Amino acid sequence: MYGLVNRAIEQLVVSLKGENGWRGVCAHANIPSDGFVSMQAYDDDITYRLVGAVSARLGLAPEMVLEAFGEYWITYTAAEGYGSLMDAGGKHLREFLDNLNDMHGRVETVFPQLRMPQFRVQELSASEFHLHYTSTREGLAPMVLGLVKGLAKRFDQPIEITQTVFKAHVQDEDVFLVRLLDESKE
Ligand code: HEM
Repeated sequence: MYGLVNRAIEQLVVSLKGENGWRGVCAHANIPSDGFVSMQAYDDDITYRLVGAVSARLGLAPEMVLEAFGEYWITYTAAEGYGSLMDAGGKHLREFLDNLNDMHGRVETVFPQLRMPQFRVQELSASEFHLHYTSTREGLAPMVLGLVKGLAKRFDQPIEITQTVFKAHVQDEDVFLVRLLDESKE
């Protein structure tokens, strides 16, 4: 994945465990700790190894690391110069998720080798919808949980989210049920 993603993992670890903590993670993952270039595409294996090393060093399940990372990504990208893109994405959670493929499409002009995930919102009622997530990668559904929780915080919309379908050989997507707990906030 692009260095922007690995740099975000670095920032998250530094904010929790300082520079020494980050050096420990890199040593564990057998990766040099001299930093990633945001605009450079790296092998996915590096990202997965980093997640595994953070999990081992912090004593958290890999799924928890991915979820924490997803939530962190929302504030990280906004602070890293993509705030206006985030602002243009929508005024509330469902609108934002509806526009997410277009938003990643715009990101693709900056990151041409992007392997974009695809999202689809399926409305169930005024307060519930299914979010369908398709990716060429494996194992990132917990990150989507964190991303959506982070977005809900960004829009100040309390939600409940659970994964209802898990990607497997017969099923090529993950599905999440999102329940808006305060309908007055869309
Ligand atoms: C302006 C904000 C954002 C930027 C700049 C951005 C950019 C990126 C980049 C560069 C990657 C790496 C893909 C690759 O190297 O092939 C990525 C992956 C990803 N992004 Fe975004 N993104 C943003 C917001 C979001 C949001 C709000 C979500 C919410 C669901 C999201 C969901 C994902 C997921 C799940 C992946 C993992 C790739 C996969 O599933 O295969 N992104 N994004």
